[in-house]
Amino acid sequence: MTPDNPLKAAYDHATRYINDVAQRHVGARAGRADLFAALGGPLPAGATDPAVVINHLALAADPGIVATIGPRYFGFVTGGSVPVTVAADWLVSSWDQNACLYVTSPAASVLEDIVSSWIVELLELPATAGVGFVTGCHMANFTCLAAARHEVLHRAGWNVETQGLQRAPRVRVFVGGEVHVSAVGALRYLGFGSDELEMVPVDDQGRMRADALRAQLGDASGPIIVCAQAGNVSTGASDPIAEIVAMAHARGAWVHVDGAFGLWAAAVPELRPQLRGIDTADSWATDAHKWLNVPYDSGLAIVADTAPLRAAMGMKASYLQRGNDEERIGMDWTPESSRRARVVPLYALFRALGRDGIEALVRRNCALARRIAERLAAETGVTILNEVVLNQVLVRFADDDTTRDTIARVQADGTCWAGGAFWQGQQAMRIAVSNWSTTEDDIDRSADAMLACYRASRATS
Ligand SMILES: Cc1ncc(COP(=O)(O)O)c(C=O)c1O
Repeated sequence: MTPDNPLKAAYDHATRYINDVAQRHVGARAGRADLFAALGGPLPAGATDPAVVINHLALAADPGIVATIGPRYFGFVTGGSVPVTVAADWLVSSWDQNACLYVTSPAASVLEDIVSSWIVELLELPATAGVGFVTGCHMANFTCLAAARHEVLHRAGWNVETQGLQRAPRVRVFVGGEVHVSAVGALRYLGFGSDELEMVPVDDQGRMRADALRAQLGDASGPIIVCAQAGNVSTGASDPIAEIVAMAHARGAWVHVDGAFGLWAAAVPELRPQLRGIDTADSWATDAHKWLNVPYDSGLAIVADTAPLRAAMGMKASYLQRGNDEERIGMDWTPESSRRARVVPLYALFRALGRDGIEALVRRNCALARRIAERLAAETGVTILNEVVLNQVLVRFADDDTTRDTIARVQADGTCWAGGAFWQGQQAMRIAVSNWSTTEDDIDRSADAMLACYRASRATS
């Protein structure tokens, strides 16, 4: 056995998978029992040749692999992975760097500094802003909101890191009625129960209503956090950030923006007006594994002033060697210590696509979302429930039951994949166009497949 045998086997399987993904049945082709039968069995007592392990793994898992990196996967909000970022990710695993400290990986530390400044420049955020590289937007929400909690309590004379939360001044937290569940989860980890959150009504696109926030804030003062949203997970609509920030800052509040995918609209001149005032917020959570199309997992916690973030995250121990202040210590920026150097695929993406390529990717996906919405809306009985302002389309096929049945048929058909959700009381199919490789032909094939499923559903109902 040579050490590179399993690597060669993995390379062959991976490249074949990537090359063929556009032709695959998009959804999984096996159920749980089949996968257990193919992959399970007793705990191995002894050794197996590593290349055999990889070959078996690749073949046995294959029917349970969902072609989420393919061009016709429209589920949730899921990016694919630009091939150069997969290649860079292979280096991450091969180097196996720990991005915890400067000394554990000077390269990872410097790459984080470089990519951080590129992200801030691309999104036109304040030049003072800094980025923590976390697993996803859920953790980015947590990281940013930990900085928010630190700062609003610090302004009230309280150090939450040393004094805790139990006797702290009360922090009021305002969220839109369409807040993403991950922000609620993040707030829960930070000691703010979901019943304590002050919900602000939203409009028919899920945008927080500025007039309602104004009324709820009244003349409030003291520690306040307002969670706004750039890109609703169903409609893609963004809150009126400029108004929210103006009224929140007038009351000394911290404004956090959850922009898991919608924040990238800031990189596209004609979309940026949807995020007017985005640069005036205090923190932004986003994902790279969604619209930037890098492999999982890759989230970004961005803060305008890095001091509160580092106060909230930073920890010291005598053995955790620090160098000079210039050297970035990864664990000061994220809730983790040992951590994968997930910045590397991002670096490769920025180098390979450049500003223009990223801008074009976001713009193209939005145009394709409009195209599928138009194709579907032309059919009698099909309604688009949202204004298609970004990459999200909410489709209703006649009624709740027909919509559910159409979704099930689409998933079984395998030409494309889309999931469902309730939108303001109505069952809808959710289409999120977030993949770098999706073409107009993919959109047309997918629309044809969805309409065929809808017609079949009507014919049997
Ligand atoms: C607005 C918003 N926030 C947060 C998240 C959570 O992101 P992740 O699953 O990458 O942690 C999502 C996921 O779709 C989202 O749309």
